[in-house]
Amino acid sequence: MTFTVAIDGPAASGKGTIARAVAAHFGFAHLDTGLLYRGVGFRVMQGEDPLNAAENLVAEELKNPELRGAAVSQWASKVAVLPEVRAALLDFQRAFARRLGGAVLDGRDIGTVICPAAEAKLFVTASDATRARRRHKELLDHDPDITFDTVLSDLRERDRRDSERSAAPLVPADDAILIDTSDMSIDAAVAAAIAAIANRQ
Ligand code: CDP
Repeated sequence: MTFTVAIDGPAASGKGTIARAVAAHFGFAHLDTGLLYRGVGFRVMQGEDPLNAAENLVAEELKNPELRGAAVSQWASKVAVLPEVRAALLDFQRAFARRLGGAVLDGRDIGTVICPAAEAKLFVTASDATRARRRHKELLDHDPDITFDTVLSDLRERDRRDSERSAAPLVPADDAILIDTSDMSIDAAVAAAIAAIANRQ
């Protein structure tokens, strides 16, 4: 059987955590599509041509913990504006979505562009302050000097770039279920997501 769960939302909204928990619950495979753009951004940061980077990305390099850093986040959203980069990553994502046994993909354009026919679509949001607090906590492990204000302004800059671009902008699909995790525990957000998806089975 195939069953696709599309989970979109802005940076640090909780979509990755929800996607992993949902995949474990239903026994589906999970793809963090942001990691693909981070992989391309990392190569471009080192001087490679964006399209060349997207066409030659290999799974192994996506395990590099440096991809999670703040600098790579900005490079990821810069290369994500380029239609040719998005096109080069499309087939891999679509094939993953239709794999046998079910798949969960999280990103920005999964419910709108990659899998418009996904069986279940979620759009996960949270307030700017909540998202910056979460991301600041994560980034402090690797960069003890990073400030909350830097994280907040980086998130806002990236949200703006992701929402205003013409190729696959960050926008909820018309049929997506909205989950605002600002005042929710992780467990409550995961439970809400599981209930919404179970409804579509
Ligand atoms: O984890 P976080 O939400 O901070 O970001 P991410 O999901 O790893 O995505 C990094 C960047 O990749 C985003 O800011 C987007 O510009 C881009 N992206 C995208 O354009 N489309 C996707 N499906 C996933 C990520």
